[in-house]
Amino acid sequence: MLNDSVLSAPCVSSVNESRLNIAVMISGGGTNLQALIDAVKTGAIQGARIALVISSKQDAYGMTRAAENGIAAVSIGKAEFPDAAEREAAISGALQRAKIDIIVLAGYMSILPPGLIREYEWRIINIHPSLIPKHCGMGFYGKRVHTAVLAAGDRESGATVHYVDEEVDSGQIIIQERVPVMDGDDADSLAARVLEAEHRILVAAVNKVIAAFAGS
Ligand code: GAR
Repeated sequence: MLNDSVLSAPCVSSVNESRLNIAVMISGGGTNLQALIDAVKTGAIQGARIALVISSKQDAYGMTRAAENGIAAVSIGKAEFPDAAEREAAISGALQRAKIDIIVLAGYMSILPPGLIREYEWRIINIHPSLIPKHCGMGFYGKRVHTAVLAAGDRESGATVHYVDEEVDSGQIIIQERVPVMDGDDADSLAARVLEAEHRILVAAVNKVIAAFAGS
C-alpha cells in the first residue's frame, strides 16, 4: 500500500533536481563544511544541496561529518593517487559524476590543478582565514596565518571568501569580515574567533554564488 511519502516522492525529487549541486573540498576538521550542512538544513542556503565532499586526507574529521549527514564523500589525495595527473582525473571524474555546479574549498590544503580551475571558472570559491591581501598566498594556511598576524602586530584580522583563479588566494573577493586581535591572543584563540566569522561569511558567499549562477 502506498503511503503519503511515496505518493509525494516524485514531487520532492523534481524539486531536488532543480537544486544546484555543491561539492565541498576539505582536508581537516570540516567546521566550515558543517556550517554549510547546517545552513542547507535550516534553509539559510536554498536552491542548492551538498552533493559531494572530497577530502585530500582519508582521516579528515570532515569525512565523518559527511557520513553522519548522509553526504557522499570520497578521499582523493596523494595517498590514494601519488601521480598528480591521476589525482586530477579522479577529482574531475568525481565532480562530473555528481554533476557538480559549484565547488567550495573549505580548508582544502592542496592546490587545485589549473585545468580544473579553468573548467569551473567563476564556480569555485575558497575561504581564507585572513583579510586578503594580508597574510595569504603560498605557505599561508591554517595556524600559520594567525601566527603571521600576531607576529606582524596587527590589531585586526578576519576572513575572506574569494573566487579561485590560477594564482594562490588571488581571485576576486566575494566577502570579508573583520575581527579584532585581542591582547593576550595566541594563534589558537585568534583562529577560533576568525573561524566564527568564517562560518558566517561562507554561508553568505555561497548564497551570492547561487544567486549569480541563477542570474547567468
Ligand atoms: C579554516 O580556518 C580555513 O580558513 C583554513 O583552514 C581552516 C579549516 O577549518 N583554510 C586555509 O588556511 C586555506 N588557505 P575547518 O576544517 O574547520 O573548516
